[in-house]
Amino acid sequence: KNSLFTMNDLSVEEIYKVLEDGQRFADEPGLEFPKAHLVANLFFEPSTRTHYSFASAQQQLGCRVEDFSASGSSVQKGESLYDTIKTFEAIGYEAVVIRHTQEEYFKELENINIPILNGGDGKKNHPTQCLLDLLTIYQEFGKFEGLRVVIVGDIAHSRVAHSNRDAMVRLGCDVRFSGPADWVDDQSIFMDIDEAVKWADVVMLLRIQHERHEQSMKLSKEAYLQKYGLTYARVEAMKEHAIIMHPAPVNRGVEIESDLVEHPKSRIFKQMTNGVHVRKALMKRAFGYAFTDMVKR
Ligand code: CP
Repeated sequence: KNSLFTMNDLSVEEIYKVLEDGQRFADEPGLEFPKAHLVANLFFEPSTRTHYSFASAQQQLGCRVEDFSASGSSVQKGESLYDTIKTFEAIGYEAVVIRHTQEEYFKELENINIPILNGGDGKKNHPTQCLLDLLTIYQEFGKFEGLRVVIVGDIAHSRVAHSNRDAMVRLGCDVRFSGPADWVDDQSIFMDIDEAVKWADVVMLLRIQHERHEQSMKLSKEAYLQKYGLTYARVEAMKEHAIIMHPAPVNRGVEIESDLVEHPKSRIFKQMTNGVHVRKALMKRAFGYAFTDMVKR
């Protein structure tokens, strides 16, 4: 079964295949599966982009899509994640997307026989976000080898930072971290933000994950922006061809000056659109289809 739990499940060749398929879905809207697969999206943590771009991808591919709500389910009676997913398998669902607070929740699900796509596990992995980020970068530069990427902000609490760093290094990027020292969990690749914005081809900002912090932040929002965030002055210092990325949701005026979210260098909304293309590619992979199997609506 073609599940996706972490980026390490994919070889470099398979990463390129997902990106190629994602680009093909971008170029050819209206491609559907030959049958209407029944799929369920189970989000045990809040989500807008991952949840609804999976739903958009699945609906566009002709799937029948069900949303699971933990609050109205037997999870409230203490049913385990394993028994919940085994139930979905038993009652006819053919694939599930799961986001869960528990890191590596998928290790409990080895006996599930339908594909599982990880929509994020705690602060550990977010492979579908990584793939949409990679597609966005590839569309811009046509390569990964030698590209300079700085990931800025709340790295220690970010599943996006960890999934992206590992995959980007495997693809040949030069990756650095920037932000408050306490949040940069690998000092060996630390770069000061003012140096980083001049150096990088990709400036990737991260949301401050307040919900994962044990103590509230000491800096004010304005002080964080001035010290570590993307200000007008720092955008001016970026290379002409360099781009701004952020997985979103964005804390406007904290990680980035609010008006810069839609700056010509920003690819933040492009990333979201690419999320649908990449998730279509992952649903295709989950069901083992080739493009020759697909039907044109
Ligand atoms: N980028 C991202 O995962 O956003 P959501 O939490 O809204 O899914």
